[in-house]
Amino acid sequence: MSAVDPLTPERVGVLGGGRMGAGIAHAFLLAGSHVVVVERDEPAALAARDRIRESLGRSVERGSTDRPLPELLAALETGTDAGLFADRDLVVEAVPEERGLKTESLRRIEAAVSVTAAIGSNTSSISIDDLASSLEHPERFLGLHFFNPVPASSLVEVVVGASTNQELVADARGWVAALGKTAVVVADAPGFASSRLGVALALEAIRMLEEGVATAADIDAAMELGYRHPAGPLRTTDIVGLDVRLGIAEELHAKLGERFAPPQLLRDLVADGHLGRKTGRGFYEWSEG
Ligand SMILES: NC(=O)c1ccc[n+]([C@@H]2O[C@H](COP(=O)([O-])OP(=O)(O)OC[C@H]3O[C@@H](n4cnc5c(N)ncnc54)[C@H](O)[C@@H]3O)[C@@H](O)[C@H]2O)c1
Repeated sequence: MSAVDPLTPERVGVLGGGRMGAGIAHAFLLAGSHVVVVERDEPAALAARDRIRESLGRSVERGSTDRPLPELLAALETGTDAGLFADRDLVVEAVPEERGLKTESLRRIEAAVSVTAAIGSNTSSISIDDLASSLEHPERFLGLHFFNPVPASSLVEVVVGASTNQELVADARGWVAALGKTAVVVADAPGFASSRLGVALALEAIRMLEEGVATAADIDAAMELGYRHPAGPLRTTDIVGLDVRLGIAEELHAKLGERFAPPQLLRDLVADGHLGRKTGRGFYEWSEG
């Protein structure tokens, strides 16, 4: 394994300051970047600022940074005009997971930035090559797939499209290292690395449950104790949401074949509204949230 030189981009832009965008802004602010977050309207921009202020406050309280909150906030600008991206070194798109919205947003970003700026997308499932086809300069574009919650997660998938410049991939590794996270570099394949492997394990665990091989708790314990997974595949599916995992499985089934065919048990639970922790029941009963 080769060490990567951490390199903080000086000026970062984030389009969409929701759960992920706010987390990405937070991460770059802690690393010392100046960050501009652009939202769809003024109330959303204010909400994004509040979200980032709160999470930065938690980082200051926990002692994750030596810098005081006012200093961190002074490096944050929020607004609604993509023109604010004009001087950015890197802009990350983090709008909702809708193909049309993403392509339109990426065009908006490209129209605003300088020729040397890099553009990243935080998409969790849309092909980077598909998104790149909406850009005039797809070589400056790649996937930067952050995980939720961003501050607590140490992984970023760097997704390399067919046109992505290799120097940009090296830069992206450096940015991720500067955030104190680890990059895995993945070709633009369905489900990238994390969703594809995570869903493959979960689908097999669900089939084992269907076949009566073991209880949900024992299947999970086999992975938690035997392979040191922090949570087994069924518990993880409950936390992520059975509906979310079914959606990914359907996409992978269409693109990669029968091994990703969603088990009937998963379909039945989703149809009955048992979506996991958020509805109180999935493979387990959840007493709250
Ligand atoms: N939530 C997760 O667990 C997770 C994990 C990894 C990746 N992702 C991906 O990150 C992206 C964002 O997801 P999220 O969970 O943060 O969603 P979210 O709904 O919390 O945030 C999206 C934000 O985008 C803003 N927005 C909508 N249209 C806009 C526009 N035209 N211009 C500017 N801003 C606009 C919304 O106001 C909202 O604040 C999606 O692509 C998602 O697939 C999500």
